[in-house]
Amino acid sequence: MSFRLLVLVSGSGTNLQALLDAASDDAYGATVVAVGADRDDIEGLARAERTGVPTFVERVGDYPDRDKWDERLAVRIAGHRPDLVVSAGFMKILGPRVLAAFPVVNTHPALLPAFPGAHAVRDALAYGVRVTGCTVHLVDAGVDTGPVIAQEAVPVLEGDDEKSLHERIKTVERALLVEMVGRMAREGWTTTGRTVRLGTTSGRTTK
Ligand code: GRF
Repeated sequence: MSFRLLVLVSGSGTNLQALLDAASDDAYGATVVAVGADRDDIEGLARAERTGVPTFVERVGDYPDRDKWDERLAVRIAGHRPDLVVSAGFMKILGPRVLAAFPVVNTHPALLPAFPGAHAVRDALAYGVRVTGCTVHLVDAGVDTGPVIAQEAVPVLEGDDEKSLHERIKTVERALLVEMVGRMAREGWTTTGRTVRLGTTSGRTTK
């Protein structure tokens, strides 16, 4: 039985596409069983639909508060029985019910703990760093504060703007996300404090 991934998206979904492409090979060891979004009419949902993967949308604005949204999102996710939730460009902070029920991995376009939040690439450029990158990490209740699984550096080039730098980061980010999610599926992982170790084969354990 293949390891079940549920991917959350808010935008263009190129990270989702990289996971869908990788998962089309049985050797990858994981299948994308559903894609969820917090908004309609996005390319991420269209990518899932073209591949025949079920989709759902839960908009925060359709609920009286974020707590009710979290409750409903947890139920929608649970309906697909994922082994791992992947936040791939999902631009909402997940609530306590989702986080208590499923392990969640996020990809972030900066070398955390530098430049957390929604404008990581812009903030890195504004600061004037010469090297930035991407981080794949487990999600906790904070904003981009969970234990780091893997990071890769990307140089800032002369003349870079937010778009050009983000595109170069995303090329590295997609490969890193695909590699790490695949390893988690095939090898399992252990979390001890802030340290995530891949390769336990026994699945998820948290100490
Ligand atoms: C990625 O860089 C992700 O880290 C950031 O938004 C981008 C999403 O890209 N939060 P895509 O929707 O996967 O193309």
